[in-house]
Amino acid sequence: MWTPAAGTLLDAALAAGIGLPSGCRVGQCESCIVRVLSGECAHLVAFEGEADRCLTCQAVPVTDLVLAP
Ligand code: FES
Repeated sequence: MWTPAAGTLLDAALAAGIGLPSGCRVGQCESCIVRVLSGECAHLVAFEGEADRCLTCQAVPVTDLVLAP
């Protein structure tokens, strides 16, 4: 279960041993974008990507999530 101490979705995934694409980790390169198959995330910065996309280095979960690279 995610808690605020786990950090962003990218941080939490990597800490759990789940490999996700990433690059800059500061919201610039967009290499960490994944599709949200179900659930909802909240971005910590302005994100103008498609509604079903998640910038994992700048987002936290709002509900249970299923993501696809
Ligand atoms: S890792 Fe670069 S925007 Fe997320």
